Amino acid sequence: MAPMSTTGGDAAVNPAGTAGEGSAPGAPPGARGGVRLRGVTKTYGDGEAAVRALDGVDLDVGPGELVVVLGPSGSGKTTLLNVLGGIEAPDGGSAEVAGVELAGRRPRGLAGFRREHIGFVFQFFNLVPTLTARENVEVMVELTGRGERREAVALLESVGLGERLDAFPAQLSGGQQQRVAIARALATDPDLLLADEPTGALDVATGKSVLRLLQRTNRQGRGVLMVTHNAAIARIAHRVVTMRDGRVESVTTCDAPADVAAVEW
Ligand SMILES: Nc1ncnc2c1ncn2[C@@H]1O[C@H](COP(=O)(O)OP(=O)(O)O)[C@@H](O)[C@H]1O
Ligand SMILES: [Mg+2]
Repeated sequence: MAPMSTTGGDAAVNPAGTAGEGSAPGAPPGARGGVRLRGVTKTYGDGEAAVRALDGVDLDVGPGELVVVLGPSGSGKTTLLNVLGGIEAPDGGSAEVAGVELAGRRPRGLAGFRREHIGFVFQFFNLVPTLTARENVEVMVELTGRGERREAVALLESVGLGERLDAFPAQLSGGQQQRVAIARALATDPDLLLADEPTGALDVATGKSVLRLLQRTNRQGRGVLMVTHNAAIARIAHRVVTMRDGRVESVTTCDAPADVAAVEW
């Protein structure tokens, strides 16, 4: 069994996050972003009003995997992402992400973990409306002290927005805004990219262009874990996790996930 880090501090036990599992099939050497959850619980509220959003979650994800999480509304998908991304600490159990044990970490330690290891992409983009595309990416570099400010332009070019660097979010389409959000999430070179219904607010063609970017970043050796309501997207995953009532209901693995271009919905 892999060693566990003690609580607090930022020391990574295992920078590649390889605990428990091998890398995704076809992942490049040095693939990152492995996950190992054991008995993870998270309860909101207390007494009569308590909701057990995660009720004993066990999950293994190898470095460099693309994971799709499915499940009905209220089944705990967003809570799972929040725990994996260090937005919230688990109440109980063990949660090792990219080689770092998160259980028992204080908010400061979680913030350090997030900065160093995690990128987030949200359904409604969450760009700062008063900043340009370029500034939305640069501000992430400034806030986290990770990555290089001058990389912002290259990142926006890589998501096809080299011509819209100085556009404000309101001047961009939904798909363009999501591509800015992906560039922003990649600015810190995260081990694991967490995406909560990243295509949920987009039409099919635009959603596909966003999924292509997520698949590309995964093939570069990063972990990608994405929540979706669209079961067709499961075909691009190395691992499909379904959740129900705060628990993992099933896990299916695939050695040869489909290209986004080959998936129809
Ligand atoms: N901040 C919160 N306060 C209270 N209850 C919450 C909070 N966040 C989520 N919940 C509850 O936890 C359960 C799981 O929610 P969530 O993880 O958002 O599910 P999903 O993303 O699958 O729709 C739901 O019953 C939800 O109402
Ligand atoms: Mg949700």
